Amino acid sequence: MKQLTLNSREETIALGERLATNLQPGDVIVLNGDLGAGKTTFTKGIARGLGISEVIKSPTFTIIREYQDGRLPLYHMDAYRLENGGAADLGLDEYFDGDGVSVVEWAQFAADELPDEYLSITFQRTDEDQRRILTLNPQGEHFTKLVEEL
Ligand SMILES: Nc1ncnc2c1ncn2[C@@H]1O[C@H](COP(=O)(O)OP(=O)(O)OP(=O)(O)O)[C@@H](O)[C@H]1O
Ligand SMILES: [Mg+2]
Repeated sequence: MKQLTLNSREETIALGERLATNLQPGDVIVLNGDLGAGKTTFTKGIARGLGISEVIKSPTFTIIREYQDGRLPLYHMDAYRLENGGAADLGLDEYFDGDGVSVVEWAQFAADELPDEYLSITFQRTDEDQRRILTLNPQGEHFTKLVEEL
């Protein structure tokens, strides 16, 4: 487990960008934290780091959005609307086993569908408007190494 303090939106984007440079096909990043904590902002950084030029829109209503124009495909998922179930019907494992990078917001609502190995990042707001505390929790050797390199 590793904790990081980020002092601005720009720092959150930069961290996502840095993480993206070491991502591999089939990697899964799960993001938790309250509304407005910074999960989509961080995903924008990952997308930038993958060289994706399309605008990243929150997939809250579509649940899954795919971006194909980067170094690796990005599968951006938002499980918020699955709070009351339904995750099992989406076939998420096809994304997790695919050639791209999967980023899952509100992953606690799809907990049963997650693979054995992933990087979990929890975003916490603070008293400071722009300050966020991130807790990184890697599952498996590959993600432990990713966190060390970050
Ligand atoms: N350090 C920071 N990191 C990320 N976002 C920040 C930071 N400081 C301020 N913000 C602002 O907080 C908001 C974060 O919104 P964002 O959509 O990323 O949250 P989210 O966690 O995806 O929320 P939701 O659960 O609704 O999807 C943005 O308006 C962003 O500009
Ligand atoms: Mg979001």
